[in-house]
This record gives sequence, structure tokens and C-alpha cells, in this order.
Amino acid sequence: MLNVVLFGPPGSGKGTQSEGIIKKYGLAHISTGDILRHEIKEGTELGKTAAEYINRGELVPDALIIEMLENKIDSLANPNGVIFDGFPRTVEQAKALKVMLSGRGQVVDVMINLEVDQEELIARLLKRGETSGRSDDNLETIQKRINVYECQTAPVIGFYKAEGSYRGICGTGTIEEIFERISEALDPCLA
Ligand code: AP5
Repeated sequence: MLNVVLFGPPGSGKGTQSEGIIKKYGLAHISTGDILRHEIKEGTELGKTAAEYINRGELVPDALIIEMLENKIDSLANPNGVIFDGFPRTVEQAKALKVMLSGRGQVVDVMINLEVDQEELIARLLKRGETSGRSDDNLETIQKRINVYECQTAPVIGFYKAEGSYRGICGTGTIEEIFERISEALDPCLA
């Protein structure tokens, strides 16, 4: 069992690196951003509320996200563990995840923080915005998302440092180079 929080600012490569981790380690994948975009596409009440926050580059309220995540965890019964992509994004969410997992006799084994500088984040997201159709991949919203990350999400780093599960990883270079660094952090957890 390996539970991984894949953490980092918008555009740091969480979704990209999740693919390799899922393949190599056979983990289930929970991306709160993907779930919210699905809800928006389906036109659900949650989707309608979430769209307002996402389009402004703000975080969806903790209560909605935590309930959504709890339902999702219950629907996944993967014996290998889970990769959490884009969650937790506040200290409140990190505390809630700890409670959810401990109720199931589990913990977050490792939190991987992909470290990428702002200039690179903006360049990556503007480039993706050319083809992704994502409503939040425009310069104004990208800058807002990065500010929100700094103010509300970066404090989660301190939470996992205190828990002893934090690993900072350089998130620049080729996708393969970064994956190699992530593997070096994850392999010992399975030994
Ligand atoms: P979410 O979908 O989670 O977006 P994000 O965190 O802003 O992250 P991105 O998906 O933009 O980037 P990523 O780190 O996954 O990078 P990627 O691999 O795509 O959340 C969207 C919104 O939903 C939030 O703003 C919020 O409103 C809401 N939300 C979601 N979760 C929430 C929560 N827990 N609480 C509250 N609200 C929540 O890569 C980016 C680009 O870079 C791609 O084009 C990729 O091809 C490219 N790239 C990747 N790696 C490299 C590399 N090594 N070199 C060059 N390019 C690269």
C-alpha cells in the first residue's frame, strides 16, 4: 500500500507525472481538478458552483471538496494505494485527508512537492492554453492561481514536513528526468 500526495503549483507537472506513477506503481488516481471539470461538463449542482471558483482562479470551498473526496475514496478499493493529485490544497484539506485515511488504517506515505519557478509555470500553462480549452489557462487567471497557491496552498508544505513525509523534487528538465527523481523518492517506500 502506497498513498502519495503529488503536490506543486499550477503547471508544475502533477497530471503529467501522475501518468507514469500510475503505470509503474499501479496506484489509483484521484485528481480533484479532473473530477470538478467532469462535474462541470455534466452540469451538476457541484459543477455549477465549482465553475464560478475555477473561472476566477480561486479554490473551491473546503467543505465541498472534502465531501467530494470522501465519496471518491469510498468508490475506489485499490489495494496498491492512491495518488492524490491536486489535493490537499489547504491545511484544512490536509487535516481532513489524515482523518479520512486513519479511519481506514492508512496514512499518506509520501508527499512529493514538484518545485518549478514561476516563469516556467506561466510559460507552460500559456502554451497548454493554446489547445486545452481550459477556461483557467489565460494569463490573468494563471497569475491569480499562482497567487492563491502561494497564500493558501503552500502552507500545506509545513504540514507534511511536520508529519515527516515531505519530499521536495526539482520539477524542471525532461518528463523522464523528473520521473526518475520521483521514482528515487517512491521506491524506498516500497522496500
Ligand atoms: P487542477 O486541475 O488541479 O489544476 P492545477 O493545480 O492548477 O494544475 P494544472 O492541472 O494546471 O497543472 P499540473 O501541475 O497538473 O501540470 P500538468 O501536468 O498539467 O485545478 C484546477 C482548479 O480546480 C483550481 O484552480 C481550483 O479552482 C479547483 N480545485 C482543484 N482541486 C482543488 C482542491 N483540492 N481544493 C479547492 N479547489 C480545487 O502540466 C502543465 C503543462 O506543462 C502541460 O501542458 C504539460 O504538458 C507541460 N509539462 C509538464 N511537464 C513538463 C516538463 N517537464 N517540461 C515542459 N513542459 C511540461
